[in-house]
Amino acid sequence: MIRINEHYLKLRASYLFSDIAKRVEAFQQANPEREVIKLGIGDVTRALPQACIEAFHKAVDEMAYDSTFRGYGPEQGYSFLREKIAQYDFKARGADIAPDEIFVSDGAKCDTANIQELFAVDIKVAIPDPVYPVYLDTNVMAGRCGESRDSRFENIVYLEGNRNNGFVPGFPLEAVDLIYLCFPNNPTGSTISKDQLGHWVDYARANRALILYDAAYEAFIRDDEIPHSIYEIDGAKEVAIEFRSFSKTAGFTGTRCAFTVVPKACMAFDSKGIAHALHPMWNRRQTTKFNGVSYPVQRSGEAIYSDQGRDQVKFLVNYYMNNAKLIRNAMSDLGFECVGGENSPYIWVDGQRDSWEFFDLLLNKAGVVCTPGVGFGKCGQGFIRISAFNSLDNVQNAIARIQSALA
Ligand code: MLT
Repeated sequence: MIRINEHYLKLRASYLFSDIAKRVEAFQQANPEREVIKLGIGDVTRALPQACIEAFHKAVDEMAYDSTFRGYGPEQGYSFLREKIAQYDFKARGADIAPDEIFVSDGAKCDTANIQELFAVDIKVAIPDPVYPVYLDTNVMAGRCGESRDSRFENIVYLEGNRNNGFVPGFPLEAVDLIYLCFPNNPTGSTISKDQLGHWVDYARANRALILYDAAYEAFIRDDEIPHSIYEIDGAKEVAIEFRSFSKTAGFTGTRCAFTVVPKACMAFDSKGIAHALHPMWNRRQTTKFNGVSYPVQRSGEAIYSDQGRDQVKFLVNYYMNNAKLIRNAMSDLGFECVGGENSPYIWVDGQRDSWEFFDLLLNKAGVVCTPGVGFGKCGQGFIRISAFNSLDNVQNAIARIQSALA
């Protein structure tokens, strides 16, 4: 008899963003005349930078001739891209990351989901609340969590983010082995200082723990004091894996290109306490289960680092950050406390009511889609997340509609 992985039965019925998409579809069917503005899922709306498009076209043309055609590429990514990433994203910030410590992939979502395969099932995992749901759900699927009661899984240590700590969680009260951190944060838009991040690195070193650091939104940082990479902190290479993505930075949500950094010095331990490097393990995993990102997409990704590409990406990021500022100002003027939107494309709004109630109100009265904070965890109750990823016109329209709906 074929049997299922029963851990899947512990998950909530559908993934947060699928749930929202279904509600929006139902609303549109019931109200076909209403035009809905989506500020829910963080999906970009502007075209790829011109430099990326040109490189993409050129690489597609190369595939048309036997002499320049490429078949399977290296599972870890082409060196032309890994070298650029190492130089511009890390060395330029004083972080000594080598090209061969970078694994190019088709998304930070997949990598943050897959990385937990490297670790034992009975480790203690610390997960922020509120949180990007992928970290928690994939640990549930893997069997690391017991039952769920009152929106809390057994065996998971929740790192609570709230107004008091500025949505930068403090250290767990019990020892943990694996820690997920995401800054600038999805969903709250909060950021972490170098000092605070340094304390997390110290914690991981003292406890022989590992930090999974999701920096997918680093390009939105405006404040020079905020770290872009955990490797800006001394000693982080031994205890941290970092995830990055071109999705939001350069409009690659549909094109798919990201990367994960697994430094060669980064270690985890076997049951006898013997240290093992994670780099060869992740390499083994990727070479077995992944065949790399397509050549044209990697060439397009490489173009992000050209002079032209960097200017165009800056323009794109500034465009969305201008939206973020407008949203944050408008919601603050309406009397809502907001976090984020200053170094992040997400605005975390204290809705002063149930998250889903506020979601429904904005959908029904304003035709605007947001994300209910409680979908990111118990600590998100009462909040909504508004995304800055849309056209300026749509954002201005959405703001006007929200203002009149709440008037
Ligand atoms: C989000 O809206 O939280 C993100 O778009 C989800 C993702 O990047 O997978």
